[in-house]
Amino acid sequence: MSFVPFDDRDGWIWQDGEFVPWRDAKTHVLTHALHYGTSVFEGERMYAGEIFKLTEHSERLHRSANLLDFEIPFSVAEIDQACKETCAKAGLDDCYIRPVAFRGPEQVSVSAFKTRTHVAIAVWEWPSYFDPETKARGIKLEWAKWRRPDPLTAPSTSKAAGLYMICTMAKMAAERNGFSDAMMLDWRGYVAEATGANVFFVRDGELHTPPVDAILDGITRRTVIQLAEAKGIKVNVRLFKPEELATFSECFVTGTAAEVTPVSQIGEYAFKPAALSLGLMEDYGRLVRGQLSTPAAA
Ligand SMILES: Cc1ncc(COP(=O)(O)O)c(C=O)c1O
Repeated sequence: MSFVPFDDRDGWIWQDGEFVPWRDAKTHVLTHALHYGTSVFEGERMYAGEIFKLTEHSERLHRSANLLDFEIPFSVAEIDQACKETCAKAGLDDCYIRPVAFRGPEQVSVSAFKTRTHVAIAVWEWPSYFDPETKARGIKLEWAKWRRPDPLTAPSTSKAAGLYMICTMAKMAAERNGFSDAMMLDWRGYVAEATGANVFFVRDGELHTPPVDAILDGITRRTVIQLAEAKGIKVNVRLFKPEELATFSECFVTGTAAEVTPVSQIGEYAFKPAALSLGLMEDYGRLVRGQLSTPAAA
């Protein structure tokens, strides 16, 4: 596919309550968010005409903004509706949806009482986050040099643009070194998450995944926990150090973009994609397309 910059495409973007031509959906260079990182966003996928877990995403957008001490001037129901309308206007049934909310250019100073919160929603086609061949074999990750911050240092559980500064650096370093992604530890040295996905490990038929105290509370992670528990698989949500990776047989990452992607390597540790990961990958694929009923919440 040829490279088309994101500001030079055909279509419509929903901006502050109305549709504007894609190329006109602009904000000024003195936008508060650009200078001070006061922006939050979501990443959603529509499968066969339905946005998967739409309301959970809109609720998280609100929660992320509240963690950054600002309010979104549209209700969860209004954001849900705007996401659906943006997909419909694009004529897409399978696509990626990107809502973003940020403090605008009304005031440029650390204090931001006079800023307004602006909201935009764009959608585009986005097939697989990792290339399908690599995904089937299991992706390889290196250790990130950056750590997820202490929640007292930054609002680590918000999907805040500012937290992706370390994700972008870690992911680009990994790609330069021939890996697909990077695995981050948290500030205490516990295994945390990849740069855009949560992580699960398998040992003796049980799953192990870190708690969401310094990482994003992934909507795919929640879904996979429900899918696993519905199959009678025990899910251990607990903290663990990298040394424990030597005792796990399988590993996979989860995220709206990554879906369920098997992992074959993290730094010095190797894993073999096998029945448990591949089974959950398949279940998730069927669930998002409405071919499997939603498991009861645990
Ligand atoms: C840092 C990070 N962790 C985890 C996730 C997975 O979250 P979700 O499953 O809600 O997409 C994402 C994806 O948005 C992410 O960016």
